[in-house]
Amino acid sequence: MYYINPSVMNIEACSEKKQVYFKNLKFYIHTFGCQMNENDSERIGGILAKEGAQKSNSLENSDLIIVNTCAVRQKSEEKLFSFLGRLTRMKKNKNLIIGVVGCVAQLHQAQLLEKNSAVDFVLGPDNYRGLNQVILKHFGEKFMAIRWSRQWKEIPPEHVLRESDISALVTIMEGCDNFCSYCIVPFTRGREKFRPFPNIIKEVKHLADNGYKEIQLLGQNVNSYRDSFSGKDFSALLRDVNSIPGIEWIRFITSHPKNFTLDIALAMKEGEKICPQLHLPLQSGSSSVLRRMNRGYTREDYLEKIKLLRDLMPDISLSTDIIVGFPGETEKEFQETLKILEEVRYTNIFSFRYSPRPLTSALGMTDDVPFEVKKRRLIEVQQLQKNLQLEKNKSMIGRVIKVLCLGKSKKNPQIFSGRNQGYQVVNFKSPKDLTGEFTPVLITSCGPHSLQGETANHS
Ligand code: 5AD
Ligand code: SF4
Repeated sequence: MYYINPSVMNIEACSEKKQVYFKNLKFYIHTFGCQMNENDSERIGGILAKEGAQKSNSLENSDLIIVNTCAVRQKSEEKLFSFLGRLTRMKKNKNLIIGVVGCVAQLHQAQLLEKNSAVDFVLGPDNYRGLNQVILKHFGEKFMAIRWSRQWKEIPPEHVLRESDISALVTIMEGCDNFCSYCIVPFTRGREKFRPFPNIIKEVKHLADNGYKEIQLLGQNVNSYRDSFSGKDFSALLRDVNSIPGIEWIRFITSHPKNFTLDIALAMKEGEKICPQLHLPLQSGSSSVLRRMNRGYTREDYLEKIKLLRDLMPDISLSTDIIVGFPGETEKEFQETLKILEEVRYTNIFSFRYSPRPLTSALGMTDDVPFEVKKRRLIEVQQLQKNLQLEKNKSMIGRVIKVLCLGKSKKNPQIFSGRNQGYQVVNFKSPKDLTGEFTPVLITSCGPHSLQGETANHS
């Protein structure tokens, strides 16, 4: 590891005192970005808790604040910097340690320490294991660790401090070799690295023993998973995870269309616990834009995979990511994205305006779609999708569906909230607390983003 900068804080360099200090430490982790970041934060939290530090639920009540960051769009970075401004003001009145970890840490490295005097340490996504020793050793100094390792760094499942005790995130690979021309991830997360197969199975068994009902396998491109020892691939992993007793629903994210094979689709169909639900990022409905994005498939290839999936699993729930206003995107190319949304009829989409990112090859293309046009295209995509979702959701009224209850609704504690197999949010009334249980729900109404109903036939 590589450390920089001399001591700036005044905590004594006695390791025993540091350990005592650590035990009394209250920490708070603020997470921006994707589910992998959420799982990383759970792992970081577990490492700190193992050392005796206590997780706090409030920023104000904490001695150590770690910000886990996302660099995928400029806006994600801006959110970090405004949050850091708030922490800097807090630090003026108390003894606070601030760490920045994750993708922005990897991207800006020492600049984060230099520009933000309040930041005490910077850790890249591959430097979390051993964080406890690192903090203990370098307490009172500014430090940074941003090295990538070629090897998977296992954090034992019992040292993960999970946010949910019903649904668990399980990281199976990290990094990306695809270099889509707009994407910063290969530069922040590094090349693909696969978690050893037996470790994944061990973690899922551990979760099943601890009463978890649902797991989500995570990676930037789970479809390219391959165990370096046995050579087993992602479909083999799905089949083995499916055979673990206790876990009832299995999901995975993210899939790359070019690596999504018939074998994976068959493993989904045959695995009775694998939810018929798939997030398959399209990015653009135009083959020429896809070529400029370096996505490795055409509009036709993508639609063929969707057909294959629907032939095998007619009720499959599909979601996607869309970027509008990529360099050179013409009105005709944009219309092809709208057309494909009508054709596929996704359950949900995530849509973004193209945001030029450092180090990416698209930075060499002229960002020639005016901001106003990007804005208008995004609204068009979102409006169309909203109508399509509403139509789809309305067709579910009157049906009874199986829902995993995840707890009380945040907006209204009188009702419960959960998800169905298709990963749709379902808010429902129930005479008793069903948190952590599966329940049939009769759908009585809907909006574009959620279904509403009441428990049906629950004994
Ligand atoms: N601009 C806009 N959206 C982006 N994404 C990734 N990079 C960019 C970018 N530079 C989107 C993609 C990806 C999702 C996680 O974020 O749609 O699938
Ligand atoms: Fe980024 Fe493309 Fe890799 Fe996804 S597949 S993380 S969009 S480079």
